Amino acid sequence: MKLKINNLFPTLIGTGSLSKFHTLNARLMKDILNIFQQDKMGQKWSKENYIGGYTSYGSISDLHFRYPSFSTFEEELKPHAEAFKKAQGWNLKDLELRMTHLWVNIMHEHTYHALHLHPHSVISGTYYVQTPPQSVPLKIEDPRMSFYMNAPLRENPTKASDKLYYEVQAKAGDFVLFESWVRHEVPPNQSKKARISLSFNYSLESED
Ligand SMILES: [Fe+2]
Repeated sequence: MKLKINNLFPTLIGTGSLSKFHTLNARLMKDILNIFQQDKMGQKWSKENYIGGYTSYGSISDLHFRYPSFSTFEEELKPHAEAFKKAQGWNLKDLELRMTHLWVNIMHEHTYHALHLHPHSVISGTYYVQTPPQSVPLKIEDPRMSFYMNAPLRENPTKASDKLYYEVQAKAGDFVLFESWVRHEVPPNQSKKARISLSFNYSLESED
């Protein structure tokens, strides 16, 4: 009998772009600059935790409840997050997907984001507001990485599914969605132009 090879345990990564993102990004940029200027606590937090850059992660991480531009973003992303949720095939009972956190990241030249995951959420992701030409990508790690031990490297990993890292190109208007336990990182920004993104978390919550 011929050997049957089963390709199992997939990790879903959703990518796409928002329609008419130019108008939305212009609105977001205006608010992002204001947030940066006013958020002294976030500037202090970033100085210690996000070297060379600024993030509102440690200070204002509910931007969709505070600014109409971020609320519009949340509304526009919602159908994509719902489609991603559906693709997972989860047994949700009466739980609904809700964006719980939304924050901004400004990566100046040499700012990087080390490998991490987003605990206590189910879906996370990033949306790109401003990206330099040939911006550094988001690198998503093969979740099996820590178990490989003595596994040989693949000879010619041209297919995305054969690589140890999947690189999502960062382009204004594009977004990426992944399960929150998936580890990811951003290498140092190589450009003098800032790489500006929004990051977000979704949780499953009951309707009331
Ligand atoms: Fe992240």
